[in-house]
Amino acid sequence: METKHYNKNLAYGNQDDEVCISPITKMDVPAVEKLRDEFEVYLQELSNKPREKQLKKERKARLLRDGFGKNRAFYGFVAKYGDRALGYAFYHFGYDPDEMQGRVIYVVDLFVTKKARGLGIGRQLMSRIADICKENGGKAVYFAAWRRNKTAIRFYKGLGADWIKDVPFMRWDLDW
Ligand SMILES: CC(C)(COP(=O)(O)OP(=O)(O)OC[C@H]1O[C@@H](n2cnc3c(N)ncnc32)[C@H](O)[C@@H]1OP(=O)(O)O)[C@@H](O)C(=O)NCCC(=O)NCCS
Repeated sequence: METKHYNKNLAYGNQDDEVCISPITKMDVPAVEKLRDEFEVYLQELSNKPREKQLKKERKARLLRDGFGKNRAFYGFVAKYGDRALGYAFYHFGYDPDEMQGRVIYVVDLFVTKKARGLGIGRQLMSRIADICKENGGKAVYFAAWRRNKTAIRFYKGLGADWIKDVPFMRWDLDW
């Protein structure tokens, strides 16, 4: 497990300001689920309409099935201070033949708890994902952000990312 050191005081205990970024395990799921609850509140505050409520039990079961089962759909990193989870990121692999980029990564969730923001944790989570992408021969990491999520946009632009202006994302809802 790689350990990152931070100078700023996290005020979360006495563990010498160490935040570890490590691949998510099943043991992390309860703590990550709490962060996802906080994320949901954040998204609801940003949203102009009520968001569909997810049943927590079902959401957790889906996370365990899709993140750890045989037919794995995503991977993740968790940022921990001691045994406290402060943030997490989920990603999956993709492929982009048109752009000649080959293997790419899509980040599908990124969240840092409010008290721990601005300490470099989000950047560390994203750079671990960028490293995984490079190790697999990939040259681009994709993600989406709500236009009204100005904080996230500033953060992503700070990493060096920008909007893909001429390729609006489409979605086909399947009826079954
Ligand atoms: C977006 C988010 C993940 C950033 O995580 P974070 O740990 O606070 O970010 P970091 O401390 O790693 O900041 C990295 C850089 O972004 C900048 N940054 C972070 N938040 C910023 C803000 N609100 N305004 C301007 N710059 C910001 C930092 O100054 C830092 O720049 P530097 O490395 O040049 O000093 C976090 O704010 C968050 O969880 N937000 C709520 C959930 C969310 O919006 N997720 C993304 C969904 S698309």
